[in-house]
Amino acid sequence: MTEAEFTSRVFSGIQPSGGLTLGNYLGALKRFAQAQDQGIETIYCMVDLHAITVWQDPVKLRHATRELCAGFIASGVDPEKSILFNQSQVSEHAQLAWIFNCVARMGWMKRMTQFKDKAGKNAENASLGLFGYPALMAADILVYHATHVPVGEDQKQHLELTRDIAAKFNHDYSVDFFPITEPVIEGAATRVMSLRDGSKKMSKSDPSDMSRINLTDDADTIAKKIRKAKTDPEPLPSEVAGLEDRPEARNLINIYAALSDKSVDQVMADVGGKAFSEFKPMLADLAVAQMAPISDEMSRLMQDEAEIDRILTVGADRARAIAAPILKKTYEIVGLVGS
Ligand code: TYM
Repeated sequence: MTEAEFTSRVFSGIQPSGGLTLGNYLGALKRFAQAQDQGIETIYCMVDLHAITVWQDPVKLRHATRELCAGFIASGVDPEKSILFNQSQVSEHAQLAWIFNCVARMGWMKRMTQFKDKAGKNAENASLGLFGYPALMAADILVYHATHVPVGEDQKQHLELTRDIAAKFNHDYSVDFFPITEPVIEGAATRVMSLRDGSKKMSKSDPSDMSRINLTDDADTIAKKIRKAKTDPEPLPSEVAGLEDRPEARNLINIYAALSDKSVDQVMADVGGKAFSEFKPMLADLAVAQMAPISDEMSRLMQDEAEIDRILTVGADRARAIAAPILKKTYEIVGLVGS
């Protein structure tokens, strides 16, 4: 097999499963906008077919998908510069996922920690879709021959599986057709933790609203949540090494670094040694300055749902133009008649 040349193309997705958090913003959205502004081809997707692997109320799903689209745009993803669309509107994703269901092995899927977490104790009762989730995710990426996938830390294992699926397909059919995708897990906030418990990931599914900052929170709520964030009684250490074993302090420093586009070392040089009573207001000001305009812009965009739907339709047409020939070629390689 010779090495095929793949041009750089970024793909990533977010589930419209209700509410975006600061974790989604710093781990994903903010970095999506940065990749777009570097002039690389960028494709971003609302993965509604992934969302329905667990129960979603249809009315809420429709709302969450549009709100997620507004969240992308308010965070700086420009639908003119990037391709921004909804997964179910481009059927090539589901079609390639079927092929990958036949490439991926049961044993690979069983090892996925996200499946184990989401299925919980009663795995027998989980949907088949939840089990096959990572094959659809591989299809999302590979139907565009995407080479780079910016994500937060929690998606690492799924991206390793995407590489395994691409490699097995290429090997089984003796082709060099799918690229071996690079996960891009970079920056200070690849795993933003709960504001109430530094050992848990910040998540939209946490029962406590105080554990997270939502992209829809207003300035006062953001400031209050940061003021009340759990910390330990000691002042901040003077050096990065002193943050070890202090997960809450580490988390707030990471958030500060990611919001201000500085490294953790730079931030520690600025704020090391300060008491939380001094540091928290600095962090609150920074978070409000960056997040409140996003929340305002999201509400503005949500007032015109027809415009959001128009953007998604245009995005889906542009996405399909790339995906359709790649799917067609895949069918041909596999030996499906008529392709
Ligand atoms: P999802 O919808 O759970 O999250 C979307 C993105 O946000 C990141 N993220 C975080 N980053 C840092 N700290 C946190 N606390 C935090 N919480 C979430 C996630 O890592 C992710 O980048 N399976 C994916 C969606 C998906 C996808 C894809 C991603 C489907 N197909 C193809 C990339 C490429 C998911 O459930 O993300």
